[in-house]
Amino acid sequence: MQRAPILRIQHLTKRFGKQTVLKRVSLDIYEGEIFGLVGVSGSGKTTLLRNLIGYLAPEEGDVKFRYDYFVKTKRKTNKPLYASVYKQQKLARNLFGFGSQEPSFYKKLTVRENLNYFGSLYNLPKKALESNATILLTLMDLRQAQNTLAGDLSGGMERRLDIACALIHDPEILILDEPTSDLDPLLRDHIWSLVQKINKKGTTIIIASHHLSEVENFCSRIAIVKDGRILDVASPARLKTKYAESQEIRIQTYPGSYANIARAIKKLGTRVFDIRIKGSELIIYSDQPQIVLHELLHTLETLKEELLDIKVSRPGLDELFLRITGK
Ligand SMILES: Nc1ncnc2c1ncn2[C@@H]1O[C@H](COP(=O)(O)OP(=O)(O)O)[C@@H](O)[C@H]1O
Ligand SMILES: [Mg+2]
Repeated sequence: MQRAPILRIQHLTKRFGKQTVLKRVSLDIYEGEIFGLVGVSGSGKTTLLRNLIGYLAPEEGDVKFRYDYFVKTKRKTNKPLYASVYKQQKLARNLFGFGSQEPSFYKKLTVRENLNYFGSLYNLPKKALESNATILLTLMDLRQAQNTLAGDLSGGMERRLDIACALIHDPEILILDEPTSDLDPLLRDHIWSLVQKINKKGTTIIIASHHLSEVENFCSRIAIVKDGRILDVASPARLKTKYAESQEIRIQTYPGSYANIARAIKKLGTRVFDIRIKGSELIIYSDQPQIVLHELLHTLETLKEELLDIKVSRPGLDELFLRITGK
């Protein structure tokens, strides 16, 4: 049986005045995914997320969520039922948790008071609210800080509190808008491991980022956003193989007359895009790595260079991303 998407974004077009910020964006999101939206600043990620939760209304298109998941319907049917987030706003509000790009908690409330406040917006019964808050404090590593004023939290803790506030009503879909921006690598990793934990508990996650390399390790699929359009949607591995036609051959040799090696390789006329000397390595870019390797070994022998180390790999995703988005 084919899985039915939990969320269907259909031909969304959004304008601000004369500027068209989203141009017929369509996407299907499946239950249990960690879905990455990647694009440079200003490409339309935040606008897409806001339209998706029904916070903004698009000029054209619709966003539909699986209705039969969330509502006990009497109708017995195998066909999934969908409702529009714009028409079923109350249901949509409970469906989504939204962690916006800017902090949305209150600095003058403590960590726990913030959770209580956000919970009260969803009319959660007191008992459910308390138990959700306690679970979240533990999950997000905020237990020790529960009585700390939110205004006194460190950067990493602020992000964790924001995510906790977005999760207080136990939404099916968590949306995070650049949750790791401006964090150092260690804190980033912490946020990502928490995102994975939340996902493992059954929450579908949609996450915006402007670093492709950051999301590649965690997302099931990635959509590349450029100028309000989706350029492509694929798994990180597929994106890589699809776009990275060139591979990287890194060698270290002794005595290491890299300029001579580079000259010899260039003379051979094989498809080599670029040869660079970087520190103790010589890096060769080519879409025919096998042929280049063969010739390279031969060249090294001729030049009496001893091969100390060799690595063949695809370029990093960020390099790929810059190529795709054309910046
Ligand atoms: N409320 C708004 N009014 C007018 N223009 C907006 C508004 N929100 C976003 N924009 C414009 O829409 C474009 C996309 O912005 P945004 O969705 O924030 O991109 P991203 O999140 O990818 O950085 C930008 O050119 C931005 O200036
Ligand atoms: Mg944004």
